[in-house]
This record gives sequence, C-alpha cells and structure tokens, in this order.
Amino acid sequence: MTRELDLVVFGATGFTGRLVAEYLAGAAGRESVRWAIAGRNRDKLDALGLGVPVIVADALDPPAMQALARRTAVVCTTTGPFARYGNALVAACADAGTHYCDLTGEVPWMRRMIDAHHARARETGARIVHTCGFDSIPSDLGCWAAQQAFIAQFGAPARTVTAVFGEQSGGFSGGTAASAFDLAREAEADPAVRALIANPYALDPDPAGPHALAPDAAGIAWQPTLKMFTVPFVMAQVNTRVVRRGHALAGAPWGAEFTYREVMSTPGSLRGAAMALAITGGVAALGFAMNHASLRNRLARRAPQPGEGPSAAVRARGHWIVRLVAEGGGETLVYTASDRADPGYGSTAKMLGEAALCLARDPLRSPGGVLTPSVAMAAPLVDRLRRAGLTFAVA
Ligand SMILES: NC(=O)c1ccc[n+]([C@@H]2O[C@H](COP(=O)([O-])OP(=O)(O)OC[C@H]3O[C@@H](n4cnc5c(N)ncnc54)[C@H](OP(=O)(O)O)[C@@H]3O)[C@@H](O)[C@H]2O)c1
Repeated sequence: MTRELDLVVFGATGFTGRLVAEYLAGAAGRESVRWAIAGRNRDKLDALGLGVPVIVADALDPPAMQALARRTAVVCTTTGPFARYGNALVAACADAGTHYCDLTGEVPWMRRMIDAHHARARETGARIVHTCGFDSIPSDLGCWAAQQAFIAQFGAPARTVTAVFGEQSGGFSGGTAASAFDLAREAEADPAVRALIANPYALDPDPAGPHALAPDAAGIAWQPTLKMFTVPFVMAQVNTRVVRRGHALAGAPWGAEFTYREVMSTPGSLRGAAMALAITGGVAALGFAMNHASLRNRLARRAPQPGEGPSAAVRARGHWIVRLVAEGGGETLVYTASDRADPGYGSTAKMLGEAALCLARDPLRSPGGVLTPSVAMAAPLVDRLRRAGLTFAVA
C-alpha cells in the first residue's frame, strides 16, 4: 500500500490521545514510521509540540474522514465516546482499505460497526480493530497466548480459560466516563440494546446462533488453583464478548465447547473475603446508580470531564496483573499478563501505540474485516508488547 503517511493518530489532543502520541514520538521515530497527528483544533494540535505534520479534520464530517483515510495506511483513534464520534471514520477506513485501531469498549456500537462494515472491510483488506487498550488486549491476547502455551505443553487446547484480574492501580478519564454514561443512557432507552449487552455472544458473527453456555460470573466464589476469592469483573461484559468473537473469527480452533470467563480476585484471606464483599456491594451500587437517571446525572457531575484524567503521580504508581487459568484434559496452566504502568492510560498508550505500529509495519497474514486484536495481530503484537515492558508468560 503506497500512501503519503504510514500512521495518523486521530484525537491526539485528548487525555489518552496525548499519551499515545507522546508514546509514538519515541517508538515511531525508532522505526522510521511516517506519522502525523490529527484532530479538530489546530491550535491544540500545534501546542503539543511533537514536530510531526498536523491534520485538521472533524469526526462528524464524513468527507474529511474519507480524505484522512485515503492519506494514510493506518489510523489510530482515541476520539471517543466512539458511538458519538466514530461512525464516519470506521466507514471511511473500511472503504479505503485503511487499517484502523481504537480504544472503544462500547459493545452496541461495535455491533453496529460489524454489521455495517465487516463485509466491506473484508473486500478492501482493511483491518478494523476495536478494543486495543486495557479493554480488551490483556483478555484477548492473554487468552490466545495462554492457549498457545497450553497446546505447546499438553498437545491440545484448554477446554476453559478463566481470566482472573488481580491487583491493579490507576484511575479514569473524562472520555471513559462519558462513554460509560452514554452507554447507560442508550441501554435505558432501548430494550434491544439491553438485550445485546446481556448476550454473552453479542459480538459473534451470529449472536443468535447455537453457542456453548457462557453466563457472566455472579457473586463471590473461590478460585482453587490461585487460592483466591473472585467477584464479577466490571469489564467482563466487554472483554468476554471480544474473546468469543476472536475465537469465532479464527474458526473455533479451541473447539465448539470452549468457554472463556472473566472475574476479579481478592486475596484468599479473611481480609480478602471482606474485600470481596465490599467490591460486590460497590459494583452493585454503581450499577444501580448508572441505571437511574437522577443518580447517574449526579455521578456525571462529579466525574472527570473531557480532557481530564488521572495525574502523573497516580499514573506513575499504576500497575495491573491478570492471571489466566487454562484447564482441560485434567491439566491446568496459569498464564500471566501484567505491566508496571496504570492500566487505562500508561499501559493503554503502549498497547494502542504498538497495535498501530504492528498494523503499519509487521507482515500480518490476517484478512480484512472487523477483527479482534488477537485475530488481526496475535504473535507480532505479543512480541511488541513484551519489548514495550509488558509481561506475557507462563506463571
Ligand atoms: N479501552 C481502554 O482501556 C481505554 C482507556 C482510555 C480511554 N479509553 C477510551 O478512549 C476514549 C477517549 O477518552 P479520553 O478520556 O482520552 O477522552 P477526551 O480527553 O475527552 O478526548 C477526546 C478526544 O476526542 C476529540 N474530539 C471530540 N469531538 C471531536 C470531533 N467532532 N472531531 C474530532 N475530534 C473530536 C477531542 O478533541 P478536542 O481536544 O478538540 O476536544 C479529544 O481529542 C473514550 O471513548 C474512552 O472510553 C479507553
């Protein structure tokens, strides 16, 4: 593909976009990638002082998105909430054969993008890859890598993988809050959206088709391999859908009965049991508030606003770990993905930045379509993330 640019970061003036652009200022330079930053406000883009070309384009202007998509081989975007700002860019990239990666965790919007653009992207060869941040790379690439390790060790894939999200520290930003509030409003207004969000196979090629039973985790449980308590994980309703889509798109290599689950852990002590109770209560209270307009509006007023996010000090103290317990044929393997950076921003900037570079630079064999990170990039992206400081390894 011969294009004027290899890569454009769209939304570089936002809280997360700035971190991604700063990450690429180092990483893209080392790989001689021709890249640019884009957004709707030239003064804000110039003020970033990154010394790369600046493109001014509004996400709500389809011809501007088409022009942007034709100039570059890859677009990497942090312009969210994506259901508000993302439609024209995905359409333009699918049409122009331009690879695309983003940070959305908005399942109903991803479903609409799959239905509208998967077939066209397959024709043009555009790899459209949502969820290239903390949602859902540790889950999707972690499950894929755990299965490769399980197959290498035991000669066959695991029948179940349970991702257990462990100790983590970080914060959240205005765009993340806005995306969550938009999604809650959309679900409140439309029963079909509520049904889609509750469907464990919401992102599968055929969400209504026959599938292995995969209910979302409910309540407090005990994880015998890790000897830890587990509680429902707030992002499971996004991540599990992405992993299942990836398995379906790959042709179900781990079998029609393969199941993937996601939970969060607390220590296997009395203190851990108390934490599990507190988290379960807190998550239930948050869910209740998000489903009631007056409480939701009060939360929205106190949440970070667009452009705001966790301080440098909070980010510097950040870390996360997920332990993936793979089981099958009487064997068990524990695989770990982790980083010593805050999940949603420091680590996400590496994940999205490396996904964009992987799409731009690495010889990938995946076809076009609305893919998941593991289907689009798999081993080359795991290698890149290891070089960026993340751990992907058998525990
Ligand atoms: N998956 C993950 O792990 C993860 C982690 C972090 C963030 N996220 C997601 O990333 C998204 C961004 O979050 P954030 O906190 O960085 O948001 P933010 O600070 O509010 O940034 C939003 C960006 O979108 C731009 N924008 C808004 N409307 C636009 C338009 N019409 N045309 C062009 N650009 C427009 C803004 O430009 P201006 O500066 O000109 O206003 C800004 O650059 C959210 O959807 C969030 O959920 C996901």
